[in-house]
Amino acid sequence: MSERWDEIVNWEKRKESEDGFFETLLKDYGVIDVLDIACGTGFHAIHLAKEGFNVKATDGSDEMLAQARANAGEHNVELEIGKADWLTLTKNIDERYDAVICLGNALTHLFYREYYQRAINEVYRLLHRGGIFVVDQRNYDAILDKGYTSKHKYYYCGEEIEIHPVTIQDDLVKIEYKFSAIEKYYLSLHPIRRDILTRYLFEAGFDEVRTYGDFEEEFEPYEPDFLIHVAEKK
Ligand SMILES: C[S@@+](CC[C@H](N)C(=O)[O-])C[C@H]1O[C@@H](n2cnc3c(N)ncnc32)[C@H](O)[C@@H]1O
Repeated sequence: MSERWDEIVNWEKRKESEDGFFETLLKDYGVIDVLDIACGTGFHAIHLAKEGFNVKATDGSDEMLAQARANAGEHNVELEIGKADWLTLTKNIDERYDAVICLGNALTHLFYREYYQRAINEVYRLLHRGGIFVVDQRNYDAILDKGYTSKHKYYYCGEEIEIHPVTIQDDLVKIEYKFSAIEKYYLSLHPIRRDILTRYLFEAGFDEVRTYGDFEEEFEPYEPDFLIHVAEKK
């Protein structure tokens, strides 16, 4: 699916819909060094590097990393890109960062409480004091309680593709990415609720967690498609 990911995302539309949210956020926190632990094909790592941040990009998938390297080359961006699994980040990464980012609903690839705790503990250890962890998720509270809807405006903006869940259960949301009647991809994700992920962040030691809904500070709980958490290590 890595070769199709950029079509699912549509870089121009995604950039437009984010409207500099992450760049502004990181600048507000005085961030210089950023670690993107779910770089995928490199969308955020490349744009942040272009904005002057000192970025390292990692991912657990060789295919995604190969595509990220190709995209960095196309954008003429020099980027340190390497393989690292979230559960063992500190084994592979020695440096410490002002910000760690994990975007694109990535963390919800994890299914078990102990894996969330291990991954978030690893992130916490990689941050300087005063650093932030920026992690987003689909609004699973809305999906589980109200059913799936999408503004088709954020994150996955590709036009030639239909995206919708084919399974919605308390412990599993399976999303279909349909390019045509015969070309379909599926992702199985863990529908973690906002308060549970927030609790895991506090349990790992973060002192404050602020949540944005579709990039807005004020929102009704069921309204946004995506939630973005900013956890501070004071
Ligand atoms: C949905 S993609 C998001 C990619 C990118 N952040 C974006 O927003 O376009 C999720 C990424 O998480 C990576 N991933 C999933 N589990 C991982 C793990 N345990 N360790 C490292 N990366 C992982 C996948 O390889 C994939 O590239």
